[in-house]
Amino acid sequence: MRKNRTTALLICGAFGLLVFNLWKGVLTHHTSNHLQVKVRMDDSQKESTIKKNTYVYSWQECQQNMSAANITGFKTLPQHIQDFLYYRHCRHFPMLLDLPDKCGGADKSAEVFLLLVIKSSPGNYDRREVLRKTWAKERLHNGVWIRRVFVSGTADTGFEKERFNTILEMEQREYNDIIQWDFHDSFFNLTLKQILFLEWMERNCPNARFLLNGDDDVFAHTNNMVEYLQGLKDNDGSKHLFAGHLIAGKGPVRKKKNKYYIPVQVEESESYPSYCGGGGFLLSGYTAMVIYKMSQSITILPIDDVYMGMCLAIAGLSPASHMGFRTIGLRLPSASRVQSVDLYDPCYYRDLLLIHRFLSARMYFMWHKLTDLNLKCGP
Ligand SMILES: *[C@@H]1O[C@H](CO)[C@@H](O)[C@H](O)[C@H]1NC(C)=O
Ligand SMILES: *[C@@H]1O[C@H](CO)[C@@H](O)[C@H](O)[C@H]1NC(C)=O
Ligand SMILES: *[C@@H]1O[C@H](CO)[C@@H](O)[C@H](O)[C@H]1NC(C)=O
Repeated sequence: MRKNRTTALLICGAFGLLVFNLWKGVLTHHTSNHLQVKVRMDDSQKESTIKKNTYVYSWQECQQNMSAANITGFKTLPQHIQDFLYYRHCRHFPMLLDLPDKCGGADKSAEVFLLLVIKSSPGNYDRREVLRKTWAKERLHNGVWIRRVFVSGTADTGFEKERFNTILEMEQREYNDIIQWDFHDSFFNLTLKQILFLEWMERNCPNARFLLNGDDDVFAHTNNMVEYLQGLKDNDGSKHLFAGHLIAGKGPVRKKKNKYYIPVQVEESESYPSYCGGGGFLLSGYTAMVIYKMSQSITILPIDDVYMGMCLAIAGLSPASHMGFRTIGLRLPSASRVQSVDLYDPCYYRDLLLIHRFLSARMYFMWHKLTDLNLKCGP
């Protein structure tokens, strides 16, 4: 008996050494790649990064499509639309910051109940900082996990670009909550950012139950969201869910001065499918993965929320309206025009899920008020 055990121990030890050396080999191989994430990896993270790190971090630079300039009327289009058309086909960019273990690895990712996916451009440090302290805090609520990632591209060029990247690296070291790719973070690249995130999710967090996908200038009542999602009958994230502020019967804005201007050269159709306002919407992990699959065969439209609607439509799924989402503002009681009504009375917000355009100080105030167990509101 005893002797057998010693032999077993010896074999185990030898095997352990072998595995260790193999790991070391993989590690040295990686350090020669330019893999900036290494600076903030602790030991537990190294282990699983290595196990599944088949992802290519450094893509070749995507080439500008010169024939785009042949499109009728190209020269008359605004600069950002010309830019978009030149690079519309590009879908892979080098990763600058990764979070392969945000969900505990792909296999364990079902333990993440609500993944907060917040689009944030590099310059928005202040917004991220407030979100980390308020509604986007990583925590256990009602017995389930809430996790947070900010998704970002790069800003500016030259020294400024490097400086912004350094800030994000510093934030990463402190909070471990940033996914960044090397593409120009602009309004017309938001769909690209969305697709890159979904690709990341398929690789690192495919079984997360639900996601809140939104901007960094919204107020999301994440406690209410968890409770709402927990209350869904027969949907644990493995069935279709896509809910938010529903927008239907709209088409491309053809006014040149408008932020959402889309010329016929970008989209010929005069109508968009139904979609949910991009400020913030909830979806199941199942639906996120369906959208990702559909996106692979749908040309990029720069308006990200409409694009999600297009992917859903192709999959034969519909977005749903949820009254708790107010992405174009809150309609307060008619008395709100009267000075004596307090627009920031937390009681107006108590039952909502999401409100658009809510910035730092108000966000901080509201989150603390709403999570205060002593908050008293009338009927
Ligand atoms: C379109 O653009 C390409 C590359 O710039 C050029 O070689 C070609 O002649 C153009 N075609 C037309 C029809 O203008
Ligand atoms: C380049 O642009 C032309 C004109 O819009 C388009 O027909 C072609 O498919 C594009 N090429 C790629 C690789 O996307
Ligand atoms: C999107 O990002 C790519 C890569 O940085 C850039 O070349 C392109 O100009 C950007 N597009 C827009 C519309 O900003």
